[in-house]
Amino acid sequence: MVAEFLKFFEGTDLKVFFEGTVGAGGHAEAILEAHPEIETYLACDRDPEALELSESRLKAWKNKVEFVRGNFGDLDTILQKRGIKKVNGFFLT
Ligand SMILES: C[S@@+](CC[C@H](N)C(=O)[O-])C[C@H]1O[C@@H](n2cnc3c(N)ncnc32)[C@H](O)[C@@H]1O
Repeated sequence: MVAEFLKFFEGTDLKVFFEGTVGAGGHAEAILEAHPEIETYLACDRDPEALELSESRLKAWKNKVEFVRGNFGDLDTILQKRGIKKVNGFFLT
């Protein structure tokens, strides 16, 4: 699953990435390692415990990752609040 996820984004220049279901941060860790060009990684989850787990796992990228407690269905609002008009990559699962 992680390999498929990485393959999908292979060769894509990712500056801003939105993950709607960051959970324990496994996918986030993999893509942040594979794509050092990422400048902003929005890591969203509705579960505060999941956000705690992923925050701990993604410490190495703390300057790039913003943790968002919320519903990925509110993506428009989440982006608007941050003045982000476009994401280069998007993941939910
Ligand atoms: C299978 S886990 C995600 C695994 C994660 N991608 C990883 O790498 O560890 C599913 C996560 O999605 C979150 N979730 C489910 N529905 C959601 C929603 N509508 N908005 C935000 N988070 C949601 C759950 O709280 C859970 O943490």
